[in-house]
Amino acid sequence: MRDAAPTTIYLKDYTPFGYLVDSVHLTFDLADHATRVTSRIAFRPNPETTDRTFFLHGEELTLVRAVIDGIEVTPSITDKGLTVDVPDAPFIWESVVEIDPGNNTALEGLYMSNGMYCTQCEAEGFRKITYYPDRPDVMSTFTVRINGNLPVLLSNGNPSGKGDGWAEWTDPWPKPAYLFALVAGDLIAHPDRFTTMSGREVELNLWVRPGDEGKCAFGMEALKKSMKWDEDVYGREYDLDVFNIVAVDDFNMGAMENKGLNIFNSSAVLASPETSTDVNFERIEAIIAHEYFHNWTGNRITCRDWFQLCLKEGLTVFRDAQFTSDMRSAPVKRIHDAIDLRARQFPEDNGPLSHPVRPESFQEINNFYTATVYEKGAEVIGMLKRLVGDEAYSKALDLYFDRHDGQACTIEDWIKVFEDTTDRDLSQFKRWYSQSGTPRVSVTEDWTDGTLTLTLSQRSEPTPGQSRKLPHVIPVAVGLLGPNGDEVHATQVLELTEAEQSFQFTGLAAKPVASILRDFSAPVILEHDPSNTERAFLLAHDTDPFNRWQAGRSLAQDTLLRMIRQDATPDADYLDGILAVLRDGDLDPAYRALMLGLPTHSELAAELFDAGDTPDPMAIWTAVETLRQATAQHLQDLLPRLHSETLIDTPFSPNAEQAGKRSLGGAALSLTSRLDGGSKAAEEYAAADNMTLQLTALSCLLRTGKGQDELSAFYDQWQHDRLVMDKWFGLQVSMAAPAATVDTARALTEHTDFNWKNPNRFRAVMGALAMNHAGFHRADGAGYALLADWLIRLDPVNPQTTARMCSAFQIWKRYDADRQDLIRAQLNRILETPNLSRDTTEMVSRILG
Ligand code: ARG
Ligand code: ZN
Repeated sequence: MRDAAPTTIYLKDYTPFGYLVDSVHLTFDLADHATRVTSRIAFRPNPETTDRTFFLHGEELTLVRAVIDGIEVTPSITDKGLTVDVPDAPFIWESVVEIDPGNNTALEGLYMSNGMYCTQCEAEGFRKITYYPDRPDVMSTFTVRINGNLPVLLSNGNPSGKGDGWAEWTDPWPKPAYLFALVAGDLIAHPDRFTTMSGREVELNLWVRPGDEGKCAFGMEALKKSMKWDEDVYGREYDLDVFNIVAVDDFNMGAMENKGLNIFNSSAVLASPETSTDVNFERIEAIIAHEYFHNWTGNRITCRDWFQLCLKEGLTVFRDAQFTSDMRSAPVKRIHDAIDLRARQFPEDNGPLSHPVRPESFQEINNFYTATVYEKGAEVIGMLKRLVGDEAYSKALDLYFDRHDGQACTIEDWIKVFEDTTDRDLSQFKRWYSQSGTPRVSVTEDWTDGTLTLTLSQRSEPTPGQSRKLPHVIPVAVGLLGPNGDEVHATQVLELTEAEQSFQFTGLAAKPVASILRDFSAPVILEHDPSNTERAFLLAHDTDPFNRWQAGRSLAQDTLLRMIRQDATPDADYLDGILAVLRDGDLDPAYRALMLGLPTHSELAAELFDAGDTPDPMAIWTAVETLRQATAQHLQDLLPRLHSETLIDTPFSPNAEQAGKRSLGGAALSLTSRLDGGSKAAEEYAAADNMTLQLTALSCLLRTGKGQDELSAFYDQWQHDRLVMDKWFGLQVSMAAPAATVDTARALTEHTDFNWKNPNRFRAVMGALAMNHAGFHRADGAGYALLADWLIRLDPVNPQTTARMCSAFQIWKRYDADRQDLIRAQLNRILETPNLSRDTTEMVSRILG
């Protein structure tokens, strides 16, 4: 049975641990079902506190022996850990425990994936390996000896010895237990080297299972670029003799920054042109950079407690976004990030799961690895940089690394380095860390005698636990365009700090068009209603690439909403504007492809809901299809030119230039297949020599209701490749027509290759189901029921992935009473499941509100 009342942990209750750890020695005797972990840990009383409670976390461990200073002791043990009397002086704790990695399906702690041993300890997995103060503010050096008959035995730090059937690793840098890692298996290295800025040689290895050797080169290049970039831009050098990355097939998240031994979901590192799309390549490059950057922002400076998670995650996401902007196109990256934030973070922040970037309480910390902590956390840093300027930002970061190296820190420490660098009081800015919800900024304009007055006001709706909100500091980047399209006032950052404020632009010859929230300078909802003529003007002329794209997006949204509500026909301003942009051969193809994007069904549903309407998923689907069809017709004459402009006559490269062309070519193909019934797509499928094109062509065919032969040919071709098969599973569900979605998903769950215990495969089908808006929200509730069935089945096997996927239901209150009843019934059914995990219980309870 589940504990009657799950415990809630509060930020305000933080107290330091009563002991410091001077060293940790671990010995692993590996065996599938009975691995022995022997620990020898040097503790001493912590002079900073008088609390002498000696509690070690430990879960699912069988204690064989416990010894203090050489004398066997008998601790009192619960399912959470142990307590025992200890001397009021330095002492040595030794223990032997037995664990069962072979049956660890939760993929937390030490587990097995395809015969290889690996670990995932963040956030609280180390306590499933041995008894330990498993909290990030307890840091120590680790020495690890692994005994096992496997060819490759890895842990953190530098190798310090090896022989037949054993290896020893020593990590000289004190670290919290969540950064511990161990890998053992039959692995092959893709080796390389890197010389650091001070001339130190580092041995690099990407370890994969036999058969995956051909998918390593791209990841290795990304690693070397990341190492160089962090030296050039942040002055941060790598600090060990080796850096290892391991790819594993069974992994709950993307990847993990364990010190010197990063462990990656194979989908986040393995790549080849034949098996990976351009989107995969870009994501892999970013994740490799992200995990590498954690070596400084996360490992050398870590978090005092898990409430401070955004200290390392927000900053590291911000850094990986800077890296991607430098490696690829900055405007394209900024647009991608805005699309992503609106698609994933806004619904979270405006629904029952809303929480601050720094949460104040949790039951299961794994439920807080969210878009809010990561992506909004990164946006907050972007705003800070915009407010203090680039130079002050660099100085503050230097100070941060100087002052806090080797420490476990808080958001207060972070803000303080900016205050000390700039002499600026950032107490109001800090509200971004404590107030949840997406602020709305509305704008009114007044034009009198050569002066434009912009009045900006901000408000935030109540969110769970926060009924009243105080004003934020919001950097609003604004530029002005004259009637002929020239910029008459360059981008200026207005600082909105009050509920309402006016800003004047004087001495203007003619009434300008204002371009507001340039570069998406703050993660807010902008309520500014320029006329469609003004939007079309911005779409044609804005000198800020983000807002130029945004103008097209707003036109699209406006026409879609009118089509949904009033049965309007597609708007000519939108169609003509898009045609003009797509014709402009001087514009980056990737950027032009983005111009063809439309708001997601779910975003449209949110807009309708905000305006007091009840979204009808089928009406949304119909409007989007109609607009797509109208766009295809409007662009008909241009499509052949877009096709020839995007032909690539050089060998395949996943670089931004080629990827941009393929992306525009793919968008054009998708429109073409609405006009020719898919014949061009069938040709392209047959000729495809890379996964981007193969998958794009197949999607076009499936959307046209064709492609069954190609689908089975694809299966035959790629059956042996788990990552490509994930695409095969997902694509069928995403491309299914609304009425067929649930049946397609259900049929796939009965396929022999539906290995549902593998998180990637489970997500491929169930994630795609939840994302197919009209299909998932089928009026009879069959979509909700299918997802709930599978969540109930997965929960005892893998609570973390189950809990994460419950968020598909977070938008339930947007819909009509019938759908709400159907979803509520499924949520209650999940909640009433006997022995439901703490993870899922917390998520479902919060969603139900
Ligand atoms: N720190 C990892 C990252 O780079 C995420 C790991 C989280 N894993 C988990 N099970 N909560 O973002
Ligand atoms: Zn991270």
